[in-house]
Amino acid sequence: MSAELIETVPEQRKPGSMQSLPGFRDFLPDDCARRNYIFARWRKVARRYGFLEWEGPPLEATDLYKKKSGAEIVEQLFNFTDKGEREVALRPELTPTLARVVAAHEREFKKPLKWFSIGQFFRYEKQQRGRLREHFQLNCDIIGEKDLAADIELVALCIDVLRAFGLTEKDFVVRISDREFWTDFFRDNNVPAEGWGDLLQVIDKSAREPREKTAEKLGDLAEPVFATLRSGGKSPRLEQLAAGLQARGLADFISIDVGIVRGLAYYTGIVFEAFDRPGKFRAIAGGGRYDNLISQLSDGAVSLPALGFAMGDVVLSELITEIPQAREAMYKAIGNERKIDIYVVIAKEQRRADALAQLQQLRDCKYRVDYPLTPTKVARQFQAAEELGARIALLYGDEWPQVRIKNMATAQQELVSMHELPSHVERILG
Ligand code: HAM
Repeated sequence: MSAELIETVPEQRKPGSMQSLPGFRDFLPDDCARRNYIFARWRKVARRYGFLEWEGPPLEATDLYKKKSGAEIVEQLFNFTDKGEREVALRPELTPTLARVVAAHEREFKKPLKWFSIGQFFRYEKQQRGRLREHFQLNCDIIGEKDLAADIELVALCIDVLRAFGLTEKDFVVRISDREFWTDFFRDNNVPAEGWGDLLQVIDKSAREPREKTAEKLGDLAEPVFATLRSGGKSPRLEQLAAGLQARGLADFISIDVGIVRGLAYYTGIVFEAFDRPGKFRAIAGGGRYDNLISQLSDGAVSLPALGFAMGDVVLSELITEIPQAREAMYKAIGNERKIDIYVVIAKEQRRADALAQLQQLRDCKYRVDYPLTPTKVARQFQAAEELGARIALLYGDEWPQVRIKNMATAQQELVSMHELPSHVERILG
């Protein structure tokens, strides 16, 4: 559906409409399977890096975002006044919540904290490909470590998460930059510090905006900024970071690009964004250092360096669907996940109660078992067994108290007594 079409949906919406709101998705079983596939890999790789899972609330005080996320995200808030007259917002991102939670529980944990979270976020965005009004993110953050080793670890994690989907250095790149590169540049050009935040936003948008518009906003700085963006720019810290990733065999997945400054206001140092190589899609992931946020949100009560990134599910699933090896890996995993182990065929209705008693036992022993809820022709039942990907079918009929086992792949059959059935099934299915 094109952006325009989605935008016109509200006007066409009739009372009692069966459509979801624009920018919100229904997850039918296939969509849910794709989403769960993504979540499972996110979780697996984050755990491999020693990150612990945590979660925050989906609704927060609007002030939490007004304080430090930056103008763009505040404009996109889904906010309202609740019944207790509180100004609240559905969370557009996790980082302010994390800063709030860490400041409140700082003493309870040894540093550095390495935490990850998977959850849904809401932004009233202008709709376009890769941007909806709700999306899921994997957030990975390290709190309490200022050494560059943490930045290297975090970028490596971001790369490894994408590699876990079968994506290679030919499919994506992580563009890395350093906000301090630009704050040094502003200082050298005698720009007062109050103006740095706005200028960073202009540079962040420059790749997506007409050059004249950016030039107008930058004024006298336009030429030096364009020249710096053209020449690439570098800093000792960025070179050290690149060397760290090279030592881990990940050099081909990154590029130094000072054009990346990130839209969110709280970043202070290294920042990065992951994109598909041809540049067809919006950013897949983004993050960086936010060493002052915890202190700012806790009014100086707790001060801890921090860094993290978030990866969204929307662009990632578009990319997986586009790249053949990633798509095949996903469909294979989803196909396997969906299959059942056993289909119980009830050939004689008198045997239904016996069959269900055994079925219950088999489910208790971890197997995925299905059966017809109502009387059904035997041929139909075998068809269902095949469609559901059952590895074996168990036939309950005239041969009771023996049960016929059919191997669905080889069509081989054998008769076993009902008492031996569970151990027999275990021998076949493991
Ligand atoms: P962000 O760049 O705003 O960063 O979002 C991270 C990722 O979430 C984006 O790269 C994109 O994949 C996805 N995303 C964002 N907005 C949308 C949307 N409207 N529709 C679909 N996908 C979207 C943050 O949120 C930071 N809090 C990340 C972070 C964590 N920084 C430090 N720790």
